[in-house]
Amino acid sequence: MPDGAPPANDSSPRSWTALVLVVPEARVDDAVGLLAAQRPGVELQDDIPGHKRLIVYLDESETREGVRSEMPALLARLELDPEACGMEFVRVADERWVERYVESLKPFPLGRGFVVLPRELAGDAEGRVPIRLEPGQAFGTGEHPTTRLCAAILERAVEPDSEWLDLGCGTAILALVAAHLGARRVLAVDNDPEALRVAHGIVRRNGLADAIELSLAERVPETFGELDGVVCNISASFMRAHAQELARVLCAAGVVVASGFLCEDIEAIALALDGAGLRVERRLEDGEWAALVARKRTAV
Ligand SMILES: C[S@@+](CC[C@H](N)C(=O)[O-])C[C@H]1O[C@@H](n2cnc3c(N)ncnc32)[C@H](O)[C@@H]1O
Repeated sequence: MPDGAPPANDSSPRSWTALVLVVPEARVDDAVGLLAAQRPGVELQDDIPGHKRLIVYLDESETREGVRSEMPALLARLELDPEACGMEFVRVADERWVERYVESLKPFPLGRGFVVLPRELAGDAEGRVPIRLEPGQAFGTGEHPTTRLCAAILERAVEPDSEWLDLGCGTAILALVAAHLGARRVLAVDNDPEALRVAHGIVRRNGLADAIELSLAERVPETFGELDGVVCNISASFMRAHAQELARVLCAAGVVVASGFLCEDIEAIALALDGAGLRVERRLEDGEWAALVARKRTAV
């Protein structure tokens, strides 16, 4: 149970302070990842077309003044304008929503060969390889279309004994997929310390700590090179800015699996990958979300 949530046997009425923000749909996952860290949780409401209303439940140790002063910098990291987000505070009656949310989570299939099991559920794997996650603390629960697209691509792209980078690993879900598919070594990197803390626990719980090396880093560490593949599920702006770095760490004919952007961004990302010496081989879509597979051109 998260800090600040009432104990299960406490029947006394209470309420939470929550911060309410309106966020464009394309930024919601990043916003949840950033704002949920070390807080009891975030609820999403769908009442505004093209946007979500985020109800961010605050920890008991937080003050409104503290949150109000911290928010502009956090929203700037998400490329969001605090004014446009309409920041306001509300009191919300406790309806044991955290416990109900966790209890509502069910196992679900990922790719053709995996099943994600939230919490410690034994679950019925039905011949699929189980990936055990702890929901609600870092992006990467496996339910997002971009994560599903990347996992499905990895099932075709990861060769036995290969070396991969999972850039923007979140819970390390895609690193786990690559390691299960036979990658000898997976470097999993994120710039969010909370995501890495969660990822360490998840990697251990899945018994893959020998194959997956987690590190805190912004962008692609200089020391990486000659990798067989990179999976990068971050954002369109990241991909446009860092395509060259991704190409640099690949071996000849190495593969980039790029996602975290909308279908409308495909052409711009394809252009950036092409400019970095990567030939786009596949374009995949799931609803409004997209993924590209590109291979490093070999010198002729
Ligand atoms: C969309 S989530 C993807 C998580 C997971 N890989 C998945 O597919 O479900 C993007 C992740 O990238 C991380 N991230 C964002 N910018 C980054 C950067 N510049 N360097 C490293 N990680 C970054 C975020 O903290 C977040 O965990």
